[in-house]
Amino acid sequence: MMTLAAPIHVPVLLQEVVANLALPPAARVLDLTLGLGGHAAALLAGADAQSLYLGVDRDPEARAMATQNLGHDRRVSIFPGTYEDIWDAPRFQAWRAAHAPEGFDAILADLGVSTLQLRTPLRGFSFRDDGPLDMRMDPEQGIPACVWIAEQTEEALANAIYQYGEERASRPIARAILKASREGRLDTTHQLARAVYTVIPREPAKRKGQSDPATRTFQAIRIALNGELDRLAATLETAITHLRLGGRMGVISFHSLEDRIVKQTLRRLAGVYDGPGRTAPRELPKIVRLIHAGGIAPSEAEAAANPPSRSARLRVAERLS
Ligand SMILES: C[S@@+](CC[C@H](N)C(=O)[O-])C[C@H]1O[C@@H](n2cnc3c(N)ncnc32)[C@H](O)[C@@H]1O
Repeated sequence: MMTLAAPIHVPVLLQEVVANLALPPAARVLDLTLGLGGHAAALLAGADAQSLYLGVDRDPEARAMATQNLGHDRRVSIFPGTYEDIWDAPRFQAWRAAHAPEGFDAILADLGVSTLQLRTPLRGFSFRDDGPLDMRMDPEQGIPACVWIAEQTEEALANAIYQYGEERASRPIARAILKASREGRLDTTHQLARAVYTVIPREPAKRKGQSDPATRTFQAIRIALNGELDRLAATLETAITHLRLGGRMGVISFHSLEDRIVKQTLRRLAGVYDGPGRTAPRELPKIVRLIHAGGIAPSEAEAAANPPSRSARLRVAERLS
C-alpha cells in the first residue's frame, strides 16, 4: 500500500558548513545541491544584503520546495540542472559573468539523496514505504529503476550491487532480482526488497544498529541509475576553477565510496601524492589548501539528534592559485 510520509530534510553539519565557508561581505555562493534549501537558509542568515546565492538542483520537486522556502529572498536564484553539466549552461555562464566574474567565494556540494526523496514513497527510493520502483533524482529524465534493472545482464547488475553497495551477496541478489523482473514482480520498492530478502532473510526484530538487508542493494541501484559517482571527481576539479582565490569549497559525503572520491580528489588538488611508490613521478601543483585534513564529522550531539547524519563527512578546500 502506498502512503505519503511527511517530507522533511534536516541539513547536516550546518554550523560546520557556515563556520568553514566563512562568507565575506557581498559573498557570491554557489550551492550545487540546493535540495530544500536548508544549508542555503543558514548561510543566507549570516550573509549581508549584497550577497547573492545561486542554487542548483536536478530534482524539480526539490527546486519547487526550495522556491517556497527561499523564494522571498531576492538574493537567491534557483537554476535547474546537474552539477556535472551546469558549468556549460548559458544561463549559468551569464549569471557568473554578471555577478561573479572573479569566481565564487564559496561552493557547497551536499551529495546524495535528500530526506524528501527518501521519504516520498512515490519517488521509489525507499523500502520503508511501498512505492513505484523509480529512484530517479530527476523524474523528467531517463528511465525508472524497474526498467533499468530489466535491461541489465546478471553480471552487470551484480557488479553494480557489489561496487556501489559493497554487498558481498551481490551475485545471488542480482539473480533473484532479475528473476522477479522476468516474472513481472518488480514494479514496486517492496517487491525489490522482497527479492533481496529471498537471499538475505530479514530478521523480524532488528538488533540495534543493524541495517535492513535491502539497504545496500537500494543504495547501489540508486547510485548506478543516477550515475552519482561517475563524474564526481571531474566535477570537483571543475568546481575548484570557479572559486576566486581564497574562496572555499565544502563537500559533504554520506558514505565511504563518495568520501573516498572526494578525499582523493581534494588531496590531489592539494598536491598530495597518493599513488603507488613513495614519491610522485612529478611534482603535483598545489591548487588548494585543505582545511581540516581528516574532514569534519558530526558532533556527538548531532549524531544523537539525527542518527542518519552519523556517516556524513565535510571536507573543505581553499583555492590557492
Ligand atoms: C542531500 S540533498 C541536499 C540538501 C540541502 N543541502 C538542504 O539543506 O536542503 C542532495 C540534493 O542534491 C540533488 N542532487 C543529487 N545529485 C545531483 C546532481 N548531479 N546535480 C544536481 N543536483 C543533484 C538531489 O536532488 C538532492 O536534492
